Amino acid sequence: MGKMMTIDWLARAVPQAGRLYPYVPGKPVETLLQEKGLDRAIKLASNENPYGPSPKAIAAIKKTAPEVNRHPDGDATLLKTALADFHAVDTDQVLIGNGSNEVLELLIRTFAGPGDEIIYAQLGFIVYALATQAAGATGIAVPEADGLTHDLDAMAAAVTDKTKVVCIANPNNPTGTLHRNESIQAFLDKLPRNVITIVDEAYYEFVADQLGDSVHNLSHPGLVISRTFSKAYGLAGCRVGYAVANPDIVGLANRFREPFNLNLLAQSAALAALDDRDWVMAHVAETITERERLEAALRSMDMSGGHSFGNFVLLRHSQSSEILQRLENHGIIPRPLAPYGMADYLRISVGLPEENTEFLSVLEDIVHKLGRCG
Ligand SMILES: Cc1ncc(COP(=O)(O)O)c(C=O)c1O
Repeated sequence: MGKMMTIDWLARAVPQAGRLYPYVPGKPVETLLQEKGLDRAIKLASNENPYGPSPKAIAAIKKTAPEVNRHPDGDATLLKTALADFHAVDTDQVLIGNGSNEVLELLIRTFAGPGDEIIYAQLGFIVYALATQAAGATGIAVPEADGLTHDLDAMAAAVTDKTKVVCIANPNNPTGTLHRNESIQAFLDKLPRNVITIVDEAYYEFVADQLGDSVHNLSHPGLVISRTFSKAYGLAGCRVGYAVANPDIVGLANRFREPFNLNLLAQSAALAALDDRDWVMAHVAETITERERLEAALRSMDMSGGHSFGNFVLLRHSQSSEILQRLENHGIIPRPLAPYGMADYLRISVGLPEENTEFLSVLEDIVHKLGRCG
């Protein structure tokens, strides 16, 4: 098969495809080990849960494994029912996705196409921009108020009669900033009924005490609240996310959904993890304690990139790309934020206590040597 075909040729049927840039994930451990000839590495690049999933979820995966010759339930009925109970909503208000990433994409594809506008913050989660491009819609990236926080007033002012969807990450990745529910509700109150607002609460568990029951405290006909099992629940590899919304919104998005989007193992793992909420929240508490320790250490080194409400911290330094290289040389994988236009920043996911200690000690050493070089 010839290898010389250009993407422009292939993309002629879908003109925007040639301009799409792919999502760049955190560097996998295996890649770094190969690149550097190391035998161990610490991945602090993808906001994963370093404690792993609940033991109940692992048991559920093992129990279900012999049944993978069968299709999963295409409607994920048990999981959907459990989530509806958990949130005290009806099952037709729950949209299940292969990760919340799929939920975001499904909603954008369902409600927007060429000629439509989608509003998000300039430093908002990057998938909003990617999904907007894939749908052929026009992205309106609104600059942050103080450099890092979503400017909800400016986002409301950007709404036009072409606006179909607004995406708000709360807390946001990568900036780690949070808006209280009162600000989000004040924003929703300004929107026309027919604009969909996705409040992406992927990091909800880390701010649960501050947001309370956002599903019931926020209201607007077009409101969609998305959540994930990838962060606090430790199931990033299973890919389970969901949204709670008006049944009409869920019904429409379901028409665009793949028939068996959530695989059998993922369904059983998520069901078991949801049932082990105490385990999940205990590890969330440990993560928050570790995040505070990391942030305090970064502040003391004058390298803090601001407070984060997620399971990650921000490092800011004018030589961040050099620091990235040197951390990788020591087998530590952070996430560069240059793709967001935040060239001075690295995002560090909170790891296990001993991983964080190692990261800080390697970092101190790097900064000391950089200082000596001038
Ligand atoms: C703000 C935000 N939303 C959504 C996601 C998607 O997560 P997942 O598809 O694993 O549920 C992420 C992942 O990093 C995120 O940071």
